Amino acid sequence: MKNAVSGSFVGLAAILLGAMAVPASAQVPVGDARAGAQRAATCAGCHGIGGLRNAYPDVFHFPKIGNQHPEYIVAALQAYRSGERSHPTMRAIASSLSDQAMADLAAFYGQGGLRATTAGGK
Ligand code: HEC
Repeated sequence: MKNAVSGSFVGLAAILLGAMAVPASAQVPVGDARAGAQRAATCAGCHGIGGLRNAYPDVFHFPKIGNQHPEYIVAALQAYRSGERSHPTMRAIASSLSDQAMADLAAFYGQGGLRATTAGGK
């Protein structure tokens, strides 16, 4: 009995530690890939479903953002929002995104986007 209780406590502690090991600097909110999947509808027209394929690969260059590191995606979006990156389209889009939205999108794309969508958010 006592063992079972302390066993589940150890399990819980391991889960909590695992969650804290997710790299996120103090001021960056933790992304929710499911919320990101919904937000990503805006991005799919240019970056392709799940960010893996470009919608119009031959016409414009839209970078592949699926499977990028979440930190990279957040950093890129923040750079567009701040004007450090000057692309007008992405600047307009990023300026309407909150830090939470960026984190959600990064979580979604960072885990491979498409899979998250087809697996029903699991
Ligand atoms: C109207 C088309 C369009 C839409 C919609 C769009 N993007 Fe982009 N995105 C671009 C283009 C074009 C670039 C390349 C800009 C550049 O050269 O700096 C880009 C660049 C990026 C980059 C940088 C990629 C890299 O490799 O550095 C990220 C991250 C990104 N977009 C995320 C998003 C997200 C997230 C959304 C939805 C909220 C979105 N984009 C919606 C056209 C679009």
